[in-house]
Amino acid sequence: MVVLGSITCTAPVNIATIKYWGKRDENLILPLNSSLSGTLHQDDLKTTTSIVANDEFTEDALWLNGVKEDISAVRYQNVLKAIRDRATKLQDKPHHVHIVSVNNFPTAAGLASSASGYCCLVYTLAQLYGVEGDVSSIARLGSGSACRSMFGGFVKWEMGTKEDGSDSIAVQVQPESHWPEMNIIVLVVNDKKKETSSTAGMQQSAQTSPMMKERCATTVPQRMKDIEEAIKSRDFEVFGDITMKDSNDFHEVCATTTPPIYYLNDTSRYIINLVEKYNTVSGNIKCAYTFDAGPNACIYLPEQNVTEFLALVLKHFPTGDQTNYYRGPNKYLQQSQS
Ligand code: PMV
Repeated sequence: MVVLGSITCTAPVNIATIKYWGKRDENLILPLNSSLSGTLHQDDLKTTTSIVANDEFTEDALWLNGVKEDISAVRYQNVLKAIRDRATKLQDKPHHVHIVSVNNFPTAAGLASSASGYCCLVYTLAQLYGVEGDVSSIARLGSGSACRSMFGGFVKWEMGTKEDGSDSIAVQVQPESHWPEMNIIVLVVNDKKKETSSTAGMQQSAQTSPMMKERCATTVPQRMKDIEEAIKSRDFEVFGDITMKDSNDFHEVCATTTPPIYYLNDTSRYIINLVEKYNTVSGNIKCAYTFDAGPNACIYLPEQNVTEFLALVLKHFPTGDQTNYYRGPNKYLQQSQS
């Protein structure tokens, strides 16, 4: 038995401020709109993936959080094929790979686990197989939002126009060092698996929401320009305003599908009101909420507002009142049922 290669990598999640929602090509995962996100620090919410290539393994196999996955699923196969097509190592050595992937946070609960998961899988495979150049378009084949986790700081996913998807890639807008005061706090409202997957939700929205057309044609392109400008000039007022508007519009799109999809719950809406009131009383935007396809709140805010905002959250969701809070070393606040 010969181990031909083994490697371990980690990748963090990213939190979209302009949401990707809807595909023009289901197989290549080409989006109906460009999107933009902030990537968390390496040590926050992250996936760790280890891969071993061995000449005596009888099949490729993958375990996610200790459970064996069906690696024949089309997305895994597309990713493996795309990497092996560009390999500069191992091509001449018959082998299979065993992949072990672990998230340090709840999987499929609207906490962008597919983003860090596929990003990490593709990045680790790329190291093992010696793939050079951009691999964000391969991460995209696993899960659209995964392409944005390939870079730190603020990252946009250009929707592209080509049919083969070669220009549908992630591009770093600004590195993390550009706006170091920016924090992301995740308020875990519910860590259960969501009822409607993003894939199903997107299909339903693209087919039935009357809001989709305008969102993709005019609203998002304008917001992409404006938020990039706001990031460049570190203008939190504009950044926060666009972020909250896009989150609200995205959930409105979901609510106007047939049948409607509701990812937010009462606690999510309570947090929205809390943030809105805090900003109104302050007279300016001090923090901004955004919600993906789940009830958990992601709060963007500058460092100087973190203590005040956390105090407010703890006041409204006091420890011991069915709720525990945990603030990790880096901007990860967890609320779990006790
Ligand atoms: O990449 P997916 O299929 O998990 O879709 C992600 C969709 C949102 O999280 C709701 C928005 C986004 O841009 O991340």
